[in-house]
Amino acid sequence: MVIIIVAAGKGTRFGSDVPKQFLPLAGKAVLLHVVDAFEEVFPTARLYLVLSGQYGREMWEKVSRGRYPWIVLVEGGDTRTESVSRALRQVMRDGYVDDEVLMIHDGARPILNPDMLRRLDDRVDSGAYQACVPAMLPTEALSRVAADGLEPISRQGFRTVQTPQTFRAATIIDCYRQMNENPADPCVYDDDAAVFAAYAGQPIAMVEGDRNNIKITRPADIAIAEILLQSPLPYNPES
Ligand code: CTP
Ligand code: MG
Repeated sequence: MVIIIVAAGKGTRFGSDVPKQFLPLAGKAVLLHVVDAFEEVFPTARLYLVLSGQYGREMWEKVSRGRYPWIVLVEGGDTRTESVSRALRQVMRDGYVDDEVLMIHDGARPILNPDMLRRLDDRVDSGAYQACVPAMLPTEALSRVAADGLEPISRQGFRTVQTPQTFRAATIIDCYRQMNENPADPCVYDDDAAVFAAYAGQPIAMVEGDRNNIKITRPADIAIAEILLQSPLPYNPES
């Protein structure tokens, strides 16, 4: 198994000097929660950590204190899509097995549910699907933006999607290759499932997402994550 953690963002919306992925959360950096959760559930996986520049590497050294020498560090890009693309190129250089499972996760999502991780892995590892994402019914009502105002639509047919998004390695690598070779593609996608959808022509499976798996985006999210770590919301994968 290959796990890519993207942590090369600047955290513009968060607005702190130190990017959010390196900030402390319940005693350790946000990014360490991520790395430790994956190490715990998938101890033999190969980890790739995408960081931005020398500063990113120094911050990682500072928070990890050299305790994870086996993690492969990759230089990030200007967009999340480019950061993932670079990590996939490194995975290609290092070698991989076509059928192995490859997960791509936001370094800013520190609360990972082991049960959810295993479900994602199982769906792709069994060969049933080449892509599987954690997805949830939207909490709020939805409306479409129309020319003359908003058009309310039922949320029943929609899902909000989290990470880690999980793929058959050869397929997601090929999707990114096609994207990069397509001169008409601006190469800016919201997530990796969108790249898969654009090029793989294969269905995307879902497992129930976890409401604790928030993406640290604004300053209050650190306080919210501390509360969720102390008293997690129930996870009902069959709901
Ligand atoms: N990311 C990345 N490379 C980029 C942009 C984002 O690796 N060029 C990573 C972030 O570090 C984060 C994840 O992608 O772990 C999700 O992105 P987001 O929450 O948008 O983080 P930022 O881009 O850092 O925040 P903002 O959009 O507020 O600037
Ligand atoms: Mg961003």
